[in-house]
Order: sequence, then C-alpha cells, then structure tokens
Amino acid sequence: MSAIRSVVRGVGAYLPSRTLTNADLALMVDTSDEWIVQRTGISERHIAADGELTSDLALHAARAALADAGLDAQDIDLIVLATSTPDNTFPATAVSVQAGLGITHGAAFDLQAVCSGFVFALATADNFLKSGAYKRALVIGAETFSRILDWSDRTTCVLFGDGAGALVLEAVSEGEEGRGVLTTHLRSDGRHKNKLYVDGGVSSTKTVGYLRMEGREVFRHAVGMITDVIEDAFKATGESAASIDWFVPHQANRRIIDASAVKLGIAPEKVVITVDHHGNTSAASIPLALAAAYADGRIKKGDLVLLEAMGGGFTWGSALVRW
Ligand code: ACO
Repeated sequence: MSAIRSVVRGVGAYLPSRTLTNADLALMVDTSDEWIVQRTGISERHIAADGELTSDLALHAARAALADAGLDAQDIDLIVLATSTPDNTFPATAVSVQAGLGITHGAAFDLQAVCSGFVFALATADNFLKSGAYKRALVIGAETFSRILDWSDRTTCVLFGDGAGALVLEAVSEGEEGRGVLTTHLRSDGRHKNKLYVDGGVSSTKTVGYLRMEGREVFRHAVGMITDVIEDAFKATGESAASIDWFVPHQANRRIIDASAVKLGIAPEKVVITVDHHGNTSAASIPLALAAAYADGRIKKGDLVLLEAMGGGFTWGSALVRW
C-alpha cells in the first residue's frame, strides 16, 4: 500500500461571460426550450469570446484553485490538463498555462480522453504524486467545444458549452484523517470510436473538423459503463452508494445522470447537478460541478465524493475522493 495520498487542497472554476440560452438556440436551429430541457436538462451554456482560448479559461480556473488552496504558483510542480480543444495542435495547452502562471520548473502536459478527460487526468496526477515524482499538481479540465460544433446541426449544437475547472492536489503522508484520492478506475474501448468523434484532424484531413455523434448509441452505452466502473471503485474500497456523501458525475445530460444514480441506488439529494447552467463542457464539467458544490458549502472536508465520466472513444472512469 502506498504511503502517500493525493489530498485536494483547492478547487477553482471559470465560465466565459457570454451565455447562450435555449431561446437563443431556437432562433438558430429548429429546436425549442421544451425539447432541450426535457431531453437533456440543459437551459443555457457559456461561450468563449472571440480570441478567448482554452488556455485563458484554464488559467482563470487554475488561479482560482491556487487562491482557494492558499498556495503560490511556484508551489506547483506538475500540471496535467485534460482537453479535446487545445489552443494549437502543439505545444500542449498546459505549457501556456504553466507560462501564464510563471512556473519554469516541473512538468506540464495535456491529456486527451474527451469527456472522461478530467478523471483520466486526476488518475494520472494521483499516480505521479503517489510515486513521489512530484509534490503538488494542478489538475485542469478546460474546453472550448463551441469551436468544434456544427451550429447548423440541432442534434449536437444544443448539448455543449465552454468552461474550465481545476483542482490542486498535494502529496501527503497517509494519515491526514484518511483524506485524499482513494481509488481511480479507467477504461476505454476503441470499437466505439465512430459513435462520438470529430470529423477532422491533423493527420486525416488537415482540418479541425466538427463534432459528430450517434446520440442514441451514446445514451444506450453510457449508464452501463458508468455504473460498472463505479462498482469497481466500491469493490476496491469497501465503500457503497450508502456511504458516499456526494455523487459528482460528468455533466453530460440530466437523464444519463439520473438513470445512473437510480441504478446505483444513490439518493437524489446526494447528486450534484450543474449541467442546466453550462451544458456539457466535456473535461471541464466535473471540476465545474465540484467547484459549485464546494462554494455553496455542500462538499466539506472529510466528505466522501464519487466522480465518474464517460465519453468519446469510448472512454470511461471513476474516482473516489475523501475531500
Ligand atoms: N431539437 C428538437 N428536436 C431534435 C433536436 C433538437 N435539438 N435534436 C434532435 N431532434 C429530433 C430528432 O431529429 C428526432 O426527430 P425525428 O423523430 O423526426 O427523426 C427526434 O428529435 C428524436 O431524436 P433522438 O435522437 O431519438 O432523441 P433522443 O431522445 O435520443 O435525444 C439526445 C437525443 C439528447 C442526444 C440523447 O440521445 C442523448 O442524450 N444522448 C447522449 C448524448 C450525450 O449526452 N452526448 C454527450 C457526449 S457523451 C458524454 O458526455 C456521455
């Protein structure tokens, strides 16, 4: 058993100021507030301003997380940034964040697992901290999905939005009231890669492309994959739906979240839902939801928090964190 645990020291989030409501979308494509709310639970999403980059969103969230942790940027020696919408093909968006924070030591890199990106990034940072390689990590999810949406396709453009969220993790010796990342479980299955993808890319079309999705197929697989990987987390720790304090799922769709909670037997009052305010922000959605539930006093030190995500690839994963 590892002698080190990754403890959450701070959380931060950022949403661009411009909002796009369902009523706004109904002026752009053949849709309605009623359809979007009933099928997804989404009321509005935030859209990055022209010239506002994924790294800008990430920097805001990172600074907020550092302030919450009471730490200086120089205390950070690892940045893992999950995104599918990087500023450029390379260098990694994470190095722009690193430079923006004035950090010149340690390592910064991007990680791509689409909507599961934050759970994958958390697991990656946790393993680096537990190995003793780094001391304090910024784990960031940041996206500008508005830039890869086909705004004439009503089956996708109503679902997504822009935003960023960040956690500060610190490696501490086990024993600090059992706090820290208790377990992470990651999965992927590339047989499903054409069910949710972007139809462009560097080595295929030399273009950026647009998001394409077989919505019904994604929905059909989502609940089973999410609940399986959560059962893995429960088995690994001896925890259960009854012992968790908060369920903070990837905010893709209210119906997927509700169905997963019902299947697992998680009480509705333990489920954190923010998808109504920002839509599906892919890798940013979990830290955005964490930041909201922490800021309003729901998530407190010592609480047992269950995270999960599922997305393109397919990829999926879970994490249990003693806050
Ligand atoms: N407004 C109005 N009507 C619409 C819209 C819209 N925005 N989009 C689709 N429709 C129409 C369809 O054209 C179809 O019309 P038809 O019957 O005349 O052909 C009808 O609504 C029903 O379409 P379905 O695709 O069957 O609708 P469904 O009930 O499956 O809901 C949805 C679609 C919301 C995409 C659902 O399949 C879903 O939630 N899938 C999961 C997708 C998801 O969350 N992806 C996020 C990325 S993956 C992740 O993060 C987990």
